[in-house]
Amino acid sequence: MPLKTAKRLFGEHFTPKEVFETYIYPEIKNCLYEHIWVDLFAGEGNLILPILEHLKESERVSFFKERIFLFDIQQRLVEKAIKKAVRYGIPEEIARQNIKVQDTIKNYPSWLLKKESPVYHITNPPYLYVGYMPKQESTRRLLEYFVGEKEGYQDLYQLALINDLKEAYPCRA
Ligand SMILES: C[S@@+](CC[C@H](N)C(=O)[O-])C[C@H]1O[C@@H](n2cnc3c(N)ncnc32)[C@H](O)[C@@H]1O
Repeated sequence: MPLKTAKRLFGEHFTPKEVFETYIYPEIKNCLYEHIWVDLFAGEGNLILPILEHLKESERVSFFKERIFLFDIQQRLVEKAIKKAVRYGIPEEIARQNIKVQDTIKNYPSWLLKKESPVYHITNPPYLYVGYMPKQESTRRLLEYFVGEKEGYQDLYQLALINDLKEAYPCRA
């Protein structure tokens, strides 16, 4: 699929790692061990994987196994995120267990909510106004999300955020 089509179809806009360092890490650094860290629309993983850089190398693998879970609908991006995790010292087979291809709008990974620690979502969901979807062949299939209880929503990001809002816990630190 041409990159331009992927960008339109999947609302692909990545966050640079600097955003994590400047805005996200200062907010979460005191409660890293109180949550599991989840991005249901992870792209290359820049919103969560850089946590690993702030941990001692000896702690990274167990922290990743227990506390980091990333999903994206695009295999190409999941592979990039896995490579990034490997660069932080995570063995590839372990990276593959927690970084998965999944349509999380259609199939919410509700098993995450059964984990011991509460879920903390850090994400930047896909955006696309529902009015644009019928206009192009590539985006028409997205209309299938907006049926049943999801009818009446206006944008892909609203559906994405509903999933993120299934459970919300404040950082206690
Ligand atoms: C705006 S990008 C954000 C990526 C990453 N969170 C970041 O900030 O760098 C949205 C991502 O959502 C993914 N995506 C779109 N629809 C999805 C779906 N139904 N399920 C899972 N991921 C999806 C896209 O492939 C894209 O990587």
